[in-house]
Amino acid sequence: MIPLAVPEIRGNEWKYVKECLDTNWVSSVGSYVDRFEQMVAARAGTKYAVATVNGTAALHIALILAGVDADDEVLVSSLTFIAPANAIRYVGAWPVFIDAEPHYWQLDPDQVVDFLEKGCDWDGTTLRNRRTGRRIKALLPVHILGHPADLDPMLAVAGKYSIPVIEDATEGLGALYRGRSVGGIGHMGCFSFNGNKILTTGGGGMLVTNDAAWAARAKYLTTQAKDDPIEYVHNAIGYNYRLTNVLAALGCAQMEQLDAFAAAKRRTAKRYRASLASVPGIQLPQEAVWAFSTYWMYTVLIDEKRSRMSSRELLRELAGRKIQARPLWQPIHRSSAHPGPGYSCPNADAICARALSLPCSVGLTDSDQDRVIEAISSLLGS
Ligand SMILES: Cc1ncc(COP(=O)(O)O)c(C=O)c1O
Repeated sequence: MIPLAVPEIRGNEWKYVKECLDTNWVSSVGSYVDRFEQMVAARAGTKYAVATVNGTAALHIALILAGVDADDEVLVSSLTFIAPANAIRYVGAWPVFIDAEPHYWQLDPDQVVDFLEKGCDWDGTTLRNRRTGRRIKALLPVHILGHPADLDPMLAVAGKYSIPVIEDATEGLGALYRGRSVGGIGHMGCFSFNGNKILTTGGGGMLVTNDAAWAARAKYLTTQAKDDPIEYVHNAIGYNYRLTNVLAALGCAQMEQLDAFAAAKRRTAKRYRASLASVPGIQLPQEAVWAFSTYWMYTVLIDEKRSRMSSRELLRELAGRKIQARPLWQPIHRSSAHPGPGYSCPNADAICARALSLPCSVGLTDSDQDRVIEAISSLLGS
């Protein structure tokens, strides 16, 4: 089986993890946690980074820091993995689902601006959704598939209404928006290092920010809100969300290879583009002029009307040829876990119906990629 996306362990991973085991520094403090945080902060271009047990935990903490409370609302992409919407519910707030734009499949900045300007009321201090009367407390754009969302218009409108922007950059490590690292552009950013991400710690996450108070509070909340180093005194409800030193050691070794990993992904994308562009009915991912995409996931759209088969039929045919492909996520406005007031996100629906992600592991060999290309070309008839 040619897998969709598997980890690449080829650097100092064994060495650093062995050092943790040899020195007995295996738990949630240790030099690798500090080093991993410094490496990610340096990469994101932020002053601070706080490691977490996973990306969802980082999002949860970011929402708490942003002051999002029960019955507030947060604008979020519909076309994304479900974790950011779930994190919004963890704090008792409600997601407002915004559609994707059709070019790069990211959160549509025009619709964000439109909703905030025309669908909300501003009394000089508070912005309220006119329909629900609830306060809009944060904007949570998700950079999907390794390509940045168009942040500038969103940052401008969020600034106008003093709404913090939390970037879900869990799929975006290594990607640039107008030359700046995603995750480090908004008020806070969150990364994930789960097994299918561009680099992995098995499971892990990171919250980045330039705000010293938020960073300190994030460290406090992720370590059970311990107020006394010796006595068990806690003055807030905290979480056991810290990353272990062993996993941070893996993360340091992986971070050393981030540029090489991104280069490998971009090379894979280039080879797919050169070979699949002429296949009838296939739409390949685009890179905006303002973007540097890592092509973390290489996702294509299959237009059933112009192609011999649908994306799901192609998925099954590829599986029969021992090639793993995957659809994108059910747009979250359609999830029964998030019943809403009947959001309309037609672009997210259309992209989801046609999307298929192709094998794109960092270590994908040319011959395996050629096998994928040949299978798709013969199945779709070029
Ligand atoms: C867009 C998005 N947000 C959040 C997450 C959550 O990250 P984690 O799995 O590390 O909790 C993921 C990935 O898993 C993701 O793809």
